[in-house]
Amino acid sequence: MYPLRRNRRLRAGHAIRSLVQETIISPNDFIVPLFIVEGKNVKEEIPSMPNYYRYSLDLLKNEVKELWNLGLKSVLLFVKVDDKLKDNKGTEAINDNGLMQQAIKTVKDVAPEMYVMTDVALDPYSSYGHDGIVEDGKIINDATCEILAKMSISHARAGADMVAPSDMMDGRILYIREGLEEEGFTDTGIMSYSAKYASAFYGPFRDALDSAPGFGDKKTYQMDPANRSEAIKETLMDIDEGADIVMVKPGLCYLDIVRDLKNEVEVPISVYQVSGEYAMLKAAAEKGWLDHDAVMMEQVTAIKRAGADLIASYFAKDVVSLIN
Ligand code: PBG
Repeated sequence: MYPLRRNRRLRAGHAIRSLVQETIISPNDFIVPLFIVEGKNVKEEIPSMPNYYRYSLDLLKNEVKELWNLGLKSVLLFVKVDDKLKDNKGTEAINDNGLMQQAIKTVKDVAPEMYVMTDVALDPYSSYGHDGIVEDGKIINDATCEILAKMSISHARAGADMVAPSDMMDGRILYIREGLEEEGFTDTGIMSYSAKYASAFYGPFRDALDSAPGFGDKKTYQMDPANRSEAIKETLMDIDEGADIVMVKPGLCYLDIVRDLKNEVEVPISVYQVSGEYAMLKAAAEKGWLDHDAVMMEQVTAIKRAGADLIASYFAKDVVSLIN
C-alpha cells in the first residue's frame, strides 16, 4: 500500500515551495502610518511602540524619503495636537495651516508621487478625546459629520490624495463625498474605516497621540467585537455612500470579517494591523519568547491571505527591509 497523492512533493524544497506559494508580500501591499508632532528636530520613540516614532516636520522629510526609496508608496498621516489647541468643535482640525495640512505638503514636497492618506476624526483635536462633538455626555452624529466634511476638504486642499475617516459616525462618507464634490475635489478618494471595532488593541496608539477618551469609551460609535453581520451592513452602506476603499480594524482578531467582506464586496479591502498588535509582538520578541521577523511575516501573510488588498501596518518598513 502507498498513498495515491503525496502533497509533500510540493513542499520538498525552497524552489518548488516558492513556485506554488499562493500569497506573496510586496511593498505594494502597505500603507505606512506616520505620527507627526510640532517642533524642530524631534524624533521621539513612543514608549508602548518600540522603534516607532513621532516626527517633527523637518525630520518627517528624511523618513518619507527613506520609505519611498524602500518602495513604499503610501502613508497615512496622524498628528499629535498641542493641548492648548484642543476644543470640542474641532476648530484646529479645519485650520488650513494646521500641523496635518503642513505635513501633507511636506510629504508631497519630498516625494511628490507618495500617495498621501490622512486620518479624519476629531479625537486628536478633542478636549474630550472623542471622535466627535460631545453634548450632554453624548457624541453627536450629524454635527460631527459636518465638521468631518470640512476637515476632509481642508486636507484635500493641502494636497491629500485620499482621506480616511476613522470615526464611525453614521452617514459621514456621504457628507464627505458631497463636500469634496462641491469643492471640486472630484479626484480625492475616501478610504472608510467601515468595520472598526471598539478594541482594546488601540491603547498604544492613544499613547502616541495623547488621545485617550477623557470619559467613557467609544462603544456608542465603534462596533461590538461580538458582531459579524453588522460588519457587512456597515461596509455596504459606506460603499453606497461613496467609499473607494473599505477597512477592517484591528487585523489579526478580525480575519473572519476580512474574508466575509472579500466574498461580498468588489472594492479593495484594507486591514489595519493596529498598535496593540505591534506592541504585543515587540514585547514578546524583546523577551526572546517569539522570533520577531518570522512571526511578523506570518502575520502579514495571514492578513493578506484572509483577503486584504492593503495593510496599514507599523511593520511596513521592517517587512520591506526584510524582503528586499
Ligand atoms: C481614532 C483612531 C484610532 C486608531 C486610528 N484612528 C484609535 C481609536 O479609535 O481610539 C487606532 C490605530 C492603532 O491602534 O494603531 N480615530
